[in-house]
Amino acid sequence: MTRRPLIAGNWKLQNGLDASTSLARAVAAGIDASTKPEVVIAPVFTALASVATVLRELEGKTVGLAAQDLHWEDKGAFTGEVSAPLLTDVGCTHVIVGHSERRQLFGDTDERVRRKVEAALRGVLTPIACVGETLEEREAGLTLEVVLRQLDAIATNLHDVSRIVLAYEPVWAIGTGRVAKAEDAQDVHHAIRNRVRELAGDAVAEGMRILYGGSVKADNAAGLLSQPDIDGALVGGASLDASQFLAIVAAA
Ligand code: 13P
Repeated sequence: MTRRPLIAGNWKLQNGLDASTSLARAVAAGIDASTKPEVVIAPVFTALASVATVLRELEGKTVGLAAQDLHWEDKGAFTGEVSAPLLTDVGCTHVIVGHSERRQLFGDTDERVRRKVEAALRGVLTPIACVGETLEEREAGLTLEVVLRQLDAIATNLHDVSRIVLAYEPVWAIGTGRVAKAEDAQDVHHAIRNRVRELAGDAVAEGMRILYGGSVKADNAAGLLSQPDIDGALVGGASLDASQFLAIVAAA
């Protein structure tokens, strides 16, 4: 089966309204109907509605819009939170869930990540669900154990596994300039796909897009994206520069 690659830009907590809308315009200008990968951008919450308007006004531009997180309940007394229906309401198509920064800094456990993925699916958003090991875990030889545990938590008993996108982001490669060797990343992606096969069957496993994230740049993207089980990239720093990001899109 051929899987359409997906290149997603995670803008993290970097750009305000003006910078986000300008960057969205610059990215969209480089995308057209012939662009091979699906392209998604993830601005801060406060810029989502404005970026959605920019994308809507550009006819023929099909750039997806992702939030960087969501709450697991749709509504209620949850001060400060944003839910799947609200994200859909402002025009989001995707949402990043379980990013390692959320897990490490904001207490997102495997169980919370699972509930957030369910909430995204209920809200008709495509979750981009992240897994990845820390440097300590890698050095202790625990990479697969950690990654597959995180995957099991996300995908077990999920009502529709086929609608998720997975992202393998080794924590030690995020924002460090230390990219995983393409072959090492491929091994982890292959193991992830095999586990999806066990959990959800052949068809789901073959259709599942598994992105790599962690110091993806224009000059290393092609090597990573040429691996058979690497179906795209979740890009942080390099997604803040339209020409770098579009070069990664072109490499897919
Ligand atoms: P960098 O590309 O800056 O390493 O960030 C990766 C990431 O965390 C994307 O979600």
